[in-house]
Amino acid sequence: SGKLLALTPPMGWNSWNCWGLNVSDEKVRLSAKAMVDKGLTDYGWNFINVDDGWQAPARLQNGEIAANEKFPDMKVLGAHLHQQGLKFGIYSSPGAKTCGGYLGSLGYEGQDATTYFNWGVDYLKYDLCSYSDQTAGDTTLFAQQKPYMVMRDELAKQPRDIIYSICQYGIKDVWKWGAKMNGNLWRTTEDITDTWESLYGIGFSQTNNAAYARPGGWNDPDMLILGRVGWGENLHQTNLTPYEQYTHMSLWSLLSAPLLIGCDMDKLDEFTLNLLKNREVIAIDQDVAGKQAVRMINDKQIQVWVKKLADGSKAVGIFNLRKKYTKYTLDLNSIHVGRVKVVRDIWQQKDIAKNVAAVSCNIPPHGVRFYKLM
Ligand code: DGJ
Repeated sequence: SGKLLALTPPMGWNSWNCWGLNVSDEKVRLSAKAMVDKGLTDYGWNFINVDDGWQAPARLQNGEIAANEKFPDMKVLGAHLHQQGLKFGIYSSPGAKTCGGYLGSLGYEGQDATTYFNWGVDYLKYDLCSYSDQTAGDTTLFAQQKPYMVMRDELAKQPRDIIYSICQYGIKDVWKWGAKMNGNLWRTTEDITDTWESLYGIGFSQTNNAAYARPGGWNDPDMLILGRVGWGENLHQTNLTPYEQYTHMSLWSLLSAPLLIGCDMDKLDEFTLNLLKNREVIAIDQDVAGKQAVRMINDKQIQVWVKKLADGSKAVGIFNLRKKYTKYTLDLNSIHVGRVKVVRDIWQQKDIAKNVAAVSCNIPPHGVRFYKLM
């Protein structure tokens, strides 16, 4: 049914932001190996998702989808990942072609779902792309939902649950109906890139969809742009400043976002690794109540986002959208909290104040102070 899947947001790696269409079996295996060797699996990272670019130019005689020469055997790859305790994700489109021009699933949805099951796939990202040819002129909600219903019903026929990632960039407020498609996550926007403008435009526009996130169904503000990225073309260290990277991880955790690393795992530097291995930050993202943060203050380029946690405490991100250090005092009454026993700095993993009704901080440019109020 899909209902008991992704009870917390999926965490893992996806090939796109790093390798783009240059993805290969070898690169995927190296990423999996790095995930295990660098200890990321101990923190909950476990999906290894192959994005666009794995498909052969033609189907087999019996209509079955096949992988191209860069992927010798998908079933063997799936088994290899499972042996290490990892999960296997794959990608397709409901259109005739994917965004990268590879074969999509149009007309073969059932056969493809069965093939993925046979390969041991745990997760399918289904990316709209050329399906828009099918909807040409039809602007009804049903026209947008149809391809996702077709694949939903085919996935439901499989003997094992497969996470369903709906990727149609937020068309027709997908957050309102993604759960009806049995979607476990649904992209809310266009693609992210490693600039402040992109991070800001996507991340800080996610307050109106908050009510629709819940265990099993998540808003997806797209993948992490930390570490070495480049979409298969010009690999480079992310253009985000270190402060912006803290903002990225903090905000995505507050948003209960799926956390998909998009970098070259083999070349993960210490700084990025530490961003990805902070247990208390991850715990905010993975909180079992699954309540997405909402923006409660938006004042002179300071934004305060608050997430209710399962234990009754609250996670608070105070974001400085200015290009310079900014001093700020948060009156806890203004976010309907009042006096608290403990203020804990989540990144530092340390209590910074006791029995207070306000918190004062100096926030770095484009940075964040990330607190748990208990
Ligand atoms: C568009 C999606 O939004 C990206 O995440 C990626 O999957 C590409 N398509 C692949 O072509």
